[in-house]
Amino acid sequence: MKVVYARSLSPADRRAAAELYWLAFGSKLARVLGPTPRALEFIGRVLDPAHVLIARDASGAILGVAGFRTAGGAFVGGGLADLLAVYGRVGGLWRAACLRLLARDMAEERIVVDGLSVRADMRGQGIGTALLEALCVEAQARGCRAVRLDVVEENLRARALYERLGFTVRARRASRFTRWLFDFDGFWVMVRPL
Ligand SMILES: CC(C)(COP(=O)(O)OP(=O)(O)OC[C@H]1O[C@@H](n2cnc3c(N)ncnc32)[C@H](O)[C@@H]1OP(=O)(O)O)[C@@H](O)C(=O)NCCC(=O)NCCS
Repeated sequence: MKVVYARSLSPADRRAAAELYWLAFGSKLARVLGPTPRALEFIGRVLDPAHVLIARDASGAILGVAGFRTAGGAFVGGGLADLLAVYGRVGGLWRAACLRLLARDMAEERIVVDGLSVRADMRGQGIGTALLEALCVEAQARGCRAVRLDVVEENLRARALYERLGFTVRARRASRFTRWLFDFDGFWVMVRPL
């Protein structure tokens, strides 16, 4: 199948991109961003087309996304105002407090992978690899010295993929709250120098 890689995410694509993101990360984020309809409303609202690379098939359907974060913004960011708008005053405030646990410093790398997801029926065909390679090219074009990503400890297949692509583990991060709130104990910080 012909796969096209692009930087453009049209307004009509926002829902599909939000669904793909939720497919990959919903199980971790459900307790804080759920229920699913609310989560999709929030992600669709805050999603930034300037911080994502897309894989599409010939008909234009989205097969995969590689969101990223820079000092200038994030694929799925948003702020307190967005949380309050979608979840209400109380719901927005406690969710904002929880999400602060996931806040990441940008340090020197300046690009952090922030949501790599390939449609379930299209995995294992090289799309994730191509999206990550394209992201490294993008990072190089922006003058970055490295690309960073975080992968939860139990995602051994994803970690294996990243190691094959030149990422190495630089640190392990853990918080005693993440198991209960986000269903993981810790994650590996991996970096690929450019
Ligand atoms: C991880 C992911 C983006 C890789 O995309 P992909 O297009 O399947 O990757 P590629 O075809 O380029 O490479 C395949 C490799 O990806 C890794 N991989 C991780 N999870 C996988 C999955 N569910 N299915 C297939 N491959 C997976 C494996 O290392 C695999 O190699 P292997 O078959 O030898 O084990 C994709 O599988 C996915 O969306 N997974 C669910 C969300 C996720 O875990 N995202 C990463 C969060 S850090």
